[in-house]
Amino acid sequence: TAAVKGGFASFMDKEIHDQPKAVADTLLGRTDPRGALVLDELRIPEATLRSIDKIIVIACGTAAYSGHVAKYAIEHWCRIPVEVELAHEFRYRDPIVGPRTLVVAISQSGETMDTLMAVRHAREQGASVLAICNTHGSTIPRESDAVLYTHAGPEVAVASTKAFLAQVAACYLLGLYLAQLRGTKFPDELREILEDLHALPDKIQRVLDDEEAVRHVAQKMADEESFLFLGRHVGYPVALEGALKLKEIAYIHAEGFAAGELKHGPIALVDEGQPVFVIVPSPRGRDQLHAKVVSNIQEVRARGARTLVIAEDGDEAVVPYADVVFRVPQTPSLLAPLVAVVPLQIFACALATAKGLDVDQPRNLAKSVTVE
Ligand code: G6P
Repeated sequence: TAAVKGGFASFMDKEIHDQPKAVADTLLGRTDPRGALVLDELRIPEATLRSIDKIIVIACGTAAYSGHVAKYAIEHWCRIPVEVELAHEFRYRDPIVGPRTLVVAISQSGETMDTLMAVRHAREQGASVLAICNTHGSTIPRESDAVLYTHAGPEVAVASTKAFLAQVAACYLLGLYLAQLRGTKFPDELREILEDLHALPDKIQRVLDDEEAVRHVAQKMADEESFLFLGRHVGYPVALEGALKLKEIAYIHAEGFAAGELKHGPIALVDEGQPVFVIVPSPRGRDQLHAKVVSNIQEVRARGARTLVIAEDGDEAVVPYADVVFRVPQTPSLLAPLVAVVPLQIFACALATAKGLDVDQPRNLAKSVTVE
């Protein structure tokens, strides 16, 4: 199997390194020469897409976190309210869904039973259902009105990595397409965001080129019992995903929090030596988020935390409060999750490997959960 793993120690390691290509392939062929988005496969009538007044993303696990990221981008670009809900919660709470609702079902495998049941329920209520899926001909796309395939290639490791990045990229395409169709963004702005999006595979590669530093720290932390992850805005779902990776493959208690929530509870968990990852937004953002997150790093540090900080190249403000800084290339805020999550994946994979665990086949988990 060494050959199928492409020389990597595990499928997960290989799939982390497949990510620049997974994103590039998902973007490929979906713009015309003038820079307009063409999503021919999106076979939901344009009139329907123009009339939708709400989007509900349904998914489970990592796929649901890609939906969380999408919410920030789609609402900002399209001014359509987006709800994100775990498929099994959606299905059993009598959700308000109708012909003007677009339900987006995100699933790597296309076979997750919880998500499939939610798709069926949404269609019975008259919603249009778009699947975002990595597996051709699987059940969820077959039962949906339309499908936007992610082109991450087959994902073997149980813990999802490249499918996540491809799902986020596909959600961005959907958001930009809706903005184009509904005229909510000017063509120039759309073109600019698309250019930024196309620059991402190279930036992801640059994060991978720096992986040794991340692995080194991870190997030294193999005996830790718990990790906290803080993020704000799109950094919040990144924090949730970073924590999930550690739970899944390293069997370490890890929790992700919205950084603004820190003072409302989680800070009570911080004591001497507690490792805390902080996903820092771009200092170039127009809002005050960067300063707020930097002060969160100070707050946890003052209570004894060891801080592991994911920050943009050139962001010097974090340095005085960080025990370790993992650098990511400068990226527009809404697109930053595609680079910020990568060090967290590398960290979890290296730490679990250092513990001698089988990162591809973690205990108690299945790649695709086909029972409710
Ligand atoms: C399982 C896997 C997770 C995955 C989730 C959703 O729990 O272990 O890695 O995120 O299912 O899977 P899907 O195929 O629907 O994306």
